[in-house]
Amino acid sequence: MPPGAVLLFIHFLLASSVYAQKLTNRTIDDTNGDSVTGAVPVYTPEAVWDGPSCNGCAILPNRAQTFDGTYHAATYNSGLRDMEISMSFTGASPCSSRSLAIKRFAGVAIYVFFILANHVADGITTTTAANFSIDGTYRGTFNHTPSTSTDFEFDALVFAQTGLENATHTLVISTQGPNDIYVNFDYAKYT
Ligand SMILES: *[C@@H]1O[C@H](CO)[C@@H](O)[C@H](O)[C@H]1NC(C)=O
Ligand SMILES: *[C@@H]1O[C@H](CO)[C@@H](O)[C@H](O)[C@H]1NC(C)=O
Ligand SMILES: *[C@@H]1O[C@H](CO)[C@@H](O)[C@H](O)[C@H]1NC(C)=O
Repeated sequence: MPPGAVLLFIHFLLASSVYAQKLTNRTIDDTNGDSVTGAVPVYTPEAVWDGPSCNGCAILPNRAQTFDGTYHAATYNSGLRDMEISMSFTGASPCSSRSLAIKRFAGVAIYVFFILANHVADGITTTTAANFSIDGTYRGTFNHTPSTSTDFEFDALVFAQTGLENATHTLVISTQGPNDIYVNFDYAKYT
């Protein structure tokens, strides 16, 4: 191996071991909340949200396939004007005194997982859509058009944002507009 390649390899080993050691994911379950702080998401309007033990809900994903056996689901209609899920998380980056190399990996990140529904029954809305904002700034939109399958899609990554600064952030998932929309939030992960 040429010396340059050896150095690169050592750098890679160091960087990957530091990465594996220092950056970990925490979960925010829809119901049980943050795996470390216990903080739970806030749902508005509160009354429209239901979980797996809902009586009379048309859309019932198999709870055994959900994270922690829980989810929060609701069907938005234009009369609600705005439906939201809000949660805070603090990105704890690696300690900056360790090494300069670590800094490149020091961005914090958040990942949001929904349960997506497809064909359930005629007249049942299973289109999913939401806007995502962090600290009041719009960051992205997710849309799911149901297929003719009756299968649900679990652990569907609907939003990912990396490179956030080391601070407390607030993520808001909102649904607005004229159409009926199904939203099912299972969990989020943050780094
Ligand atoms: C955290 O989870 C996301 C989404 O599953 C994954 O892409 C990422 O590599 C994970 N990060 C760490 C540090 O485990
Ligand atoms: C991230 O913020 C925490 C809390 O303010 C602080 O203890 C830590 O040193 C910070 N890390 C970096 C890399 O700035
Ligand atoms: C996302 O935001 C846009 C712009 O405000 C809005 O027109 C649209 O209805 C929103 N979509 C959802 C699903 O809330």
